[in-house]
This record gives sequence, C-alpha cells and structure tokens, in this order.
Amino acid sequence: MYRYLPIRKVHGRQVLDSRGNPTVEVEVTVGEGIVGVNGTTGRAMVPSGASTGTFEAVEIRDGSKRKYMGLGVEKAVSNVNTKLADAILGENALDQNAVDSLLLEADGTENKSNVGANAMLGVSMATARAAAKALKLPLFQYIGGTHAKRMPVPMMNILNGGVHANNTVDLQEFMIMPVGAENFHTGLRMCVEIYQYLKIILKEEKLSTSVGDEGGFAPDLADSREVLSYIVRAVERAGYRPKEEVAIAIDAAASELFDGEKDAYYFPGETQKKGKTVLRSGKEMVDYYKELVQEFPIVSIEDGLHEDDWDGWKHLTRELGDKIQLVGDDLFVTNIKRLRCGIKLQAANSILVKVNQIGTLSEAMDAVEMAQKAGYRAVVSHRSGETEDSFIADLAVACGAGQIKTGAPCRSDRNAKYNQLLRIEEYLGCQACFENPFAPV
Ligand code: PGA
Ligand code: ZN
Repeated sequence: MYRYLPIRKVHGRQVLDSRGNPTVEVEVTVGEGIVGVNGTTGRAMVPSGASTGTFEAVEIRDGSKRKYMGLGVEKAVSNVNTKLADAILGENALDQNAVDSLLLEADGTENKSNVGANAMLGVSMATARAAAKALKLPLFQYIGGTHAKRMPVPMMNILNGGVHANNTVDLQEFMIMPVGAENFHTGLRMCVEIYQYLKIILKEEKLSTSVGDEGGFAPDLADSREVLSYIVRAVERAGYRPKEEVAIAIDAAASELFDGEKDAYYFPGETQKKGKTVLRSGKEMVDYYKELVQEFPIVSIEDGLHEDDWDGWKHLTRELGDKIQLVGDDLFVTNIKRLRCGIKLQAANSILVKVNQIGTLSEAMDAVEMAQKAGYRAVVSHRSGETEDSFIADLAVACGAGQIKTGAPCRSDRNAKYNQLLRIEEYLGCQACFENPFAPV
C-alpha cells in the first residue's frame, strides 16, 4: 500500500501516570495530504519506574519544586515539540529503525540526558502506532510481522513490597505464573482467581488488603517465607496445583536493599518484625535463594543481587542458573552493551525488557534479539508508574518473548495490558500459541 509514509506532525503534552505524577504523551501524525484532514495519528504514553536502575537512560524531570514536587515533564515535552519533531518531520514512519536513529542523533548522548529518554520513547512508540494504524494492521503484527503469534505467560505480581509499598515486605514483587494453562485467557483467569483468594485469606487473617503501586496486596508480613506460604495457600484454595499448574516468580530488586558501606543487603522490614538487624552478604543472599527455591515452587528470580555485582551474578548463575530463570533488570537495563557483557560472563540467563530504560523501540527490540540469539529468555515488562497505554502487550507478542510482567489484575493501568492481550488472542484465534516458557524444547 505505502512505501513512504511521511511524518507530518509531532505533538507532545504532559499527562498523568498511575501514581499521579506527570509523564509524556506524544501524538505522531503521518500520511499524505493536509494534517487534520487525511492524516493518521498514533498516540503513546511513557511509563516511569520507582526502583530505577543507575544505568538506565535518563528521564528528564523539570525539578521545579513549585510544580508537581519537581516531577513535571514540561522540558521533555518541549524537546518533543522542537528538537525531536525537527529531526523526524518528513521522514518515513515505516522505517522505524531510521526514525529511532534520528532520535538518537538529535539527543547525541550515550545516556539520552540531552532530550530525555522519556521524550524519545514517546515519539518512538507513537511513530510505530501511527504507521500500524495507517497500514490498518494490529500493532503487534506491524512490529512483529506475520509470524507473531506467541502469547506471553503472565508473570503476575500479587504481593507488593520494597519501594512499591509501605509495608514490611522487603523483596519488591511476588508473582504467580500459570505455567500449566493451555491458553492465555485460561492462564489469566487462574491468576485472577488466585489473586481474589489471596484477598480472602488476608482478610480472614485480619491482614491489610490495600494494594501497592502495581496493584498487588501489601500486608505487613514478617519475611519472604511467610509471603510465599500465603501465596501457596491462595493457589491451593483456588483449586490449582503449585508447581505443575502455577509457579512462583520473585523480583528482589536487590539494588534497593544494597548498602555499599556495609557491602551487604539490609532487610528493613524483617529487622523491624524480628527486632534484630537483618543483613545478608552477597553469598548469604545466594544461599537464601537456594533455600527458598528448595522449599517453594519458584521458577524465576529477578535482580537477586545488585546492579554492579558482576562477580556475584556469576556465582548466583553457577549455583541456580540450571534450575531456575535468573532475570537481569537493573543489571542489564534493556541495554545491549550491558547484556553483551552479561552473556560473556554468563551472568543471569534472562533479560527484563522495559522500553523506557533504553528510550527507543528499536533498541528494545535489539535487546530481545540479542538475548534470544544467546539462549537467554526475555520478559517484557511494565514500570511501577504506568498509564492506560497497552503498548507492551503488543510488543510482547510481536517479539515472541513468551513472558510478560504487568502487575496485578487490579487498577486499569495494569488491566489495560491484560485486556489488550485478550483482544490479541481473540484476533489470532486458533493461530495463537501459548507455551510454558520453562518446558524443555
Ligand atoms: P520499577 O519496578 O518500575 O519501579 O523499576 C519494576 C521492576 O523493578 O521490575
Ligand atoms: Zn525489577
């Protein structure tokens, strides 16, 4: 239909994310003729993290305390409307790689600190949306091609801790994975039922059922063993078999616990609950995970150690890498340079893919491709600060990642992704495939 689809207009604005903080929204209009009469417009919204990795691309915030506690994104929006718009107006929206290269050039820095990764990502995603819409293709098919048909297994966060909640749970995320489900919608239903049973159990035990930033419950539990026991109880109460049908995944977000001066991981909640300081060395962390993996049906641990501890990660991978998935989030920050280093060192065996950690769609896809070539798995992920934009649902199917991490089935910013996956599954019909990512090939 088209080979050249010119970018006619780029417009950014400041909107709000799921935590009530400002974020960037971008509209890109493509097509021949007069803009506003016969152009096609794609829109995208940019997510934002709380347990942000040191090596992530830079998100530009205004810093003026008089407005939005310094978190405004007016500068980033202005960069969208000037520097980035100037760089890509008239360019071919169908050539995503070239558009993203121009965005990188317009920024000119290694860490995107000039125009901001938040500004760039909004433009990058909105360009893909506009192109898909102009071609009348679903976004996942535009990005992934006709072979894109693998539905991701949800890695559903049902219990929040760390910096995502103000409870005593130290590890950030406890997730369930419906590894025994035969299709996406059944897997989703299983997870939702377990989430609702967990709520009933917490109520029975007079524990809080308020939720953290990603919609998971945030009760004051004593330690990870207690959390994991509650989750296993909820799985069984919902009528499913732990391990065979429903497995558990953890995101420790260990960079947040690491105390550089003490060269150890400090557990503030456990310390408070137990009345004595709980500190674990890197080696003790690995031993702790080994025990938890022995006792509970855990199949995946993300950011088990901090983002700069390559030697520790090598040790962790040697000890647990052939039994479970070890995901690098803050370790790799969706950056192929850091991933290449990890592959060489055999640190971790999987990468978390967050589009705003790197700033363009093409670079995020490069990271997935490098991971898959090296035999690493990829998990497409939301941020703790999200929006109603469901882009990552399409991205997960487009790149055949096989896993998606997008929070609890609670709050519409999270459900937007699950609901979009339901639509994609319906669209694919009997072509849709759903596989246990941990089953032998
Ligand atoms: P974040 O949390 O978005 O706050 O970084 C998600 C994660 O650590 O995976
Ligand atoms: Zn993480």
